[in-house]
Amino acid sequence: LERTLSIIKPDATRRNLTGKINAKFEDAGLRIIAQKRIHLSPAQAGKFYEVHKDRPFYGELVEFMASEPVVVQVLEGENAIQKNRDVMGATNPANADAGTIRKDFALSVGENSVHGSDAPETAAEEIAFFFSGLELVG
Ligand code: GTP
Ligand code: MG
Repeated sequence: LERTLSIIKPDATRRNLTGKINAKFEDAGLRIIAQKRIHLSPAQAGKFYEVHKDRPFYGELVEFMASEPVVVQVLEGENAIQKNRDVMGATNPANADAGTIRKDFALSVGENSVHGSDAPETAAEEIAFFFSGLELVG
């Protein structure tokens, strides 16, 4: 089984959408094997999204991710990385398929409700960024 790092972003925690988003993960066969609510500092958010530091939206992204609490979680399942990205939908909710998290809940390309790892290497790095091995209960 594969594991991926998911973040329920501030626009979604603010609107009490954690349960509805988790239902979509579980309905797709993804098991939530670790989960915690945290409030990232700007420095922590900046480090997490360092890969995007040269993109024009980096400052806005970091400010948003540190604005209010997030729920970080590890999802486990068959092809969890791709399966999660399918459930999330396209980055811009205007382009997301019906039934996806971003189609149903996202507010904009920036405030798009969820993050998901995009490859096995980034998934491993991102899981280790937030969780110790003891916290992963598969
Ligand atoms: P993540 O799972 O969050 O990594 O989303 P993604 O892989 O679908 O998108 P990408 O990695 O390209 O961008 C990371 C995040 O930056 C997106 O989820 C958005 O929150 C934000 N982002 C991307 N493009 C834009 C943009 O044009 N404007 C703003 N404000 N934010 C953007
Ligand atoms: Mg990404």
